[in-house]
Amino acid sequence: MKLLVTGGLGFIGSNFINLLQEENEYSIVNIDKMTYAAKFENVSITKPENYEFVKADINDESTLEKYSDIDWVINFAAESHVDNSIKSSTEFVQSNVQGVRSLLDFCRKHDKMILQISTDEVYGSIEKGSFTEESPLNPRNPYSATKASAELLVKAYHETYGIPYLITRGANNYGPNQHPEKLIPKTISNILSNKKTPVYGRGLQIRNWVYVKDHCNAIKLVLERGIKNQDYNIPGPEETSNISLVKLILKTFNKPESLIDFVPDRLGHDFRYSMGDSKIRKLGFSYSMTLEKYLHSLV
Ligand SMILES: NC(=O)c1ccc[n+]([C@@H]2O[C@H](COP(=O)([O-])OP(=O)(O)OC[C@H]3O[C@@H](n4cnc5c(N)ncnc54)[C@H](O)[C@@H]3O)[C@@H](O)[C@H]2O)c1
Repeated sequence: MKLLVTGGLGFIGSNFINLLQEENEYSIVNIDKMTYAAKFENVSITKPENYEFVKADINDESTLEKYSDIDWVINFAAESHVDNSIKSSTEFVQSNVQGVRSLLDFCRKHDKMILQISTDEVYGSIEKGSFTEESPLNPRNPYSATKASAELLVKAYHETYGIPYLITRGANNYGPNQHPEKLIPKTISNILSNKKTPVYGRGLQIRNWVYVKDHCNAIKLVLERGIKNQDYNIPGPEETSNISLVKLILKTFNKPESLIDFVPDRLGHDFRYSMGDSKIRKLGFSYSMTLEKYLHSLV
C-alpha cells in the first residue's frame, strides 16, 4: 500500500513512519514543509526503497499532483502548539484548514482516501465523564477550532463527493521526538539544568495522556481495520492534572518542588479533556505504556 504521509518530520508523524517501516507492505511518501517543529533526524530510514521525502507545503497542489499513484493520504501536517495559535492564528488556518482543503481536492480529483489526524481538543472541555465519538464538537481555542474545521471539511467532502475518510482524535501525546516547546520535554529540560519551570495558573487543568507509539499503533489499526467514514477516539490510559504531572517529573528526576514557577494562566484554558476508548478497543487496541514507566526510562 502506498501512503502519502504529511507532516512526517514532526513528532507523531515521524513515530508513525518509523513504525510502518518495520513492515514491508507500506511504501511512504513523506511531504513536510519543515517548519520549526520538523526534524530530519526524527525519521530513521530503515527501508530507503520504501521511503521518499519531499519538502513541500500541503497547499502546494502541483507537488501533490506528482503522487496520484498513492492509496491513502494520512494527514499529520499541522501547526500544533496551542500557545502559538493564541498569539496568531494565521498559520493555523493556512495549514490546518486550507491545507486540508488542498489535500481533499487532491483526493477528489484522483479518487483517493484520507485519514485525518485530529485531537481530543475538538470536543472542548468536560467536567465529568467522557466524550464519545458521537459527542458534538465544541472547540474553544484557535488551534482546536482549526482542527474541528478540518474535520468538518473532511465530512463535507465525503457527503458531497463521496471521498472515503477516517478520522482519529488523539489525546495529549508524549514520547520520543517531541518538540521542547511541549509540557513534558520542556519541564525535563528546565529542571535538568536546575532552572525554574512554568506551570499555568495553579496547574489544575486535567489532561489525558497517551504514549506516542501507542497512538501510532492505534492509527495503524484504524487504517487497517477501521470502518470507513467513521471517527475513532484514541485516548490514553490515565489522566492527571498538570501540577501532578510536573510533580511526578520532579520526583522522578529527584528535583525539588521549589523549581515550579506558577505563571498567569493560558487564555481560555480548557479545564479537562476526556474521551472514551471503547470503539478503538473493539479494533483490538491496548496500551503498552504509562507516564510513570516512561519517565523512569529517561532517568
Ligand atoms: N501532539 C499531540 O499531543 C497531538 C495530540 C492529538 C493530535 N495531534 C495532531 O497530530 C498531528 C501531528 O502533531 P505533532 O505533535 O506531531 O505536530 P508537530 O508540530 O510536531 O509536527 C507537525 C509537522 O507538520 C509539518 N507541517 C506543518 N504545516 C505544514 C504544511 N502546511 N505543509 C506540510 N507540512 C507541514 C511541520 O513541519 C511538522 O513537521 C497534528 O495534526 C496535531 O493536530 C497532536
